[in-house]
This record gives sequence, C-alpha cells and structure tokens, in this order.
Amino acid sequence: MTQPQRVEHQSTDKGSVPIYTTAVVEQPWDKYTATDHEVWRTLFRRQRDMLVGRACREFLDCQDEMGISEANIPRFADLNALLEAKTGWTLIGVQGLLPELDFFEHLANRRFPVTWWIRRPEQLDYLSEPDLFHDLFGHVPLLMNPIFADYMQAYGQGGVKAQGIGPDALAQLTRLYWYTVEFGLIRTDEGLRIYGSGIVSSGGESRYCLESDAPNRLGFDLLRVMRTRYRIDTFQKTYFVIDSFEQLMSATLPDFVPYYEQLKSLPTIPAGTVLDTDLVITRGTGEGWATDADF
Ligand SMILES: [Fe+2]
Repeated sequence: MTQPQRVEHQSTDKGSVPIYTTAVVEQPWDKYTATDHEVWRTLFRRQRDMLVGRACREFLDCQDEMGISEANIPRFADLNALLEAKTGWTLIGVQGLLPELDFFEHLANRRFPVTWWIRRPEQLDYLSEPDLFHDLFGHVPLLMNPIFADYMQAYGQGGVKAQGIGPDALAQLTRLYWYTVEFGLIRTDEGLRIYGSGIVSSGGESRYCLESDAPNRLGFDLLRVMRTRYRIDTFQKTYFVIDSFEQLMSATLPDFVPYYEQLKSLPTIPAGTVLDTDLVITRGTGEGWATDADF
C-alpha cells in the first residue's frame, strides 16, 4: 500500500485533463479534516432529502442498510464487513481515476474502487471527476443488491473482453455503463425513479432527469444504448429506463461478440435523437440543449 495522494484532473486552457492512477491505498480515515466531514455532511443531507421519492427504493434501502449516514465520512472497513457478507464485493481505496483496464479488472473480481478523498467546499455543486461522495454515496449502495452486484461484475468481465476486441467495442460498452450505472432510470409502481450514480450524486440532475420536459426518456434497448452518444459536460439529453434490475442483467448476460459485429454496420446515434423504433416514455422538448458535439 502506498501513502495516499490526491490525484485530481488538471485544469488547462483546453479544459480539464484527466490524470490516471492505478495504486490501491488504505483509506486514511484519521487524516480527514473537519472540513472534509462537513462537506460529506452537507452533500449527504442535501442529496438524501432530495432523493426520497426520486431514487428507487432499493437504492435508499441499501444506503440505510449499510449505515451510510450524514454523521461522518464512512469507513470503508465498516462497509466492507457488510458488503462482503451480503454480495461478496469489497471496496478498495484509490487516488483518482483508473485506466479502463484496471477499472474493469477490479469490477470483474468484485472489487469496487472508491476515491479516498472528497471534494473541496467550493466544489460542492460540480466536480468533473469522481470523488468519495460520488463513488460512495452514489455507487456503493446498490452493490448490496444481489442482482445489481452481479451486473457490475458482468460489466467488468465484458470490459476486459472489449479491451481485447478494440476501441469501437470499448466505446459501445462505455455507453452502456453511462446510460445504466451512471444515468439510469427505472420504472416502478410509484413512477419513474433514479438508480444511476451520476444522477443521485448531482442535485441539479436529480430534479432535471425526472421533472424537466427537456430530455427524452426511452425504454432500455441494449443495442440502441450501445450506439447512443452522450454528454459529459451537461445534463443528459436522453435517459434510458429499465423495468427491473433483472432486465438489465438478462440483457447483458449473452456474449457481446456477435453484438459488436452487428454494430459495425450501424452508425452511432446523437444523444438527443429519437428513432421511430424507440419505446418513447416521454419525448423531450430539447429546451436548453447544448448544440456542440456529443461525446
Ligand atoms: Fe461514477
């Protein structure tokens, strides 16, 4: 284990540039300052209050079951005792963004990398990279859900494979992660709910994704999602809605190699486009959408 460092994206005149790091570190819990705990508390309170009635029940229940609360930044060791017993996942401390293959290999082995450091008070509303709040508050709870936990591992295994196939396969698989793990919505008896970590850790997007007329909300379709470009700097133009975590797991169970073959002949789809073949839940007005290129 190395001494933990804070590896942040670098700001340049061309914008924020990602810096990658591979080290696995012990969570330096005693080194968190009063300000760090206060940032956690403020963000936790704000997001948790907003998510009641917006996030899916599984997410909120798992957060409670793990004892994640506003009191303090949680200790990974405490959460691991519960997680390992329930679904066999382990949280590992990392210093910042991992290279893709490292990330996939951890997931494939049921290890979830959590950034050990938390954003600064002036970054409460926006940070371009994952920090402890995003990773722990947003990603960790659903690892307690057995089906979602299996999906995450299957995703990692698929990622290792895609890496060997080539950049197109990798881009297609990354879109799946984006539109499910990060920005997914789920249909429930109580209405649409959030399960994506990128949404639950963002105040603005938690409201926008459910309440705004601007974005499209479309039924989940695996190959459609894998062709859809996305936004990294603004709220999403389109959200894909699953019916259940079982649907997500079973859609991604088959070998993806034939899918990658099939996708070779199909163009990518701009983030805001609605196709005739889409299952449209709501068609967005497109109000306020950025007009520059999607990712
Ligand atoms: Fe994330």
